[in-house]
Amino acid sequence: MKIFGLHHVAIATNDITKHNEIFENIFGLKIGDIETNPANNLKLSFFNFGNADVEFLEPLDRDSTIAKFLEKKGPGIHHICILVDDIANALEELKAKNIKLVDQNPRQGAEGSLIAFIHPDSTGGILIELKEEKY
Ligand code: CO
Repeated sequence: MKIFGLHHVAIATNDITKHNEIFENIFGLKIGDIETNPANNLKLSFFNFGNADVEFLEPLDRDSTIAKFLEKKGPGIHHICILVDDIANALEELKAKNIKLVDQNPRQGAEGSLIAFIHPDSTGGILIELKEEKY
């Protein structure tokens, strides 16, 4: 598996506006608009830190997986995302190592990218997203 770098760290929050204001105040960074993503039942915002992003995720309702995460663990790091060159190939490698996957096959991510999640059962409890960008 060829790794290009860390793409983003995603943080679950009950109040995306509050966390945006905190990050704007501390780092002087401007965020784009808060996006609503009904397909994944969440709102999100991005801060670019040069080599990687921090993204905030707020659930749209109580059925959201982010809502369940917040109930169990409170606000904090939800997942990290690693950029790879070839996600299909990376998933085959992981299957060969018997690593448990959330997504058996790559699925559509933002901006034409492909993504897949590795199951926390195989990572010591850390949710890890793999991403292949469209160039
Ligand atoms: Co992500």
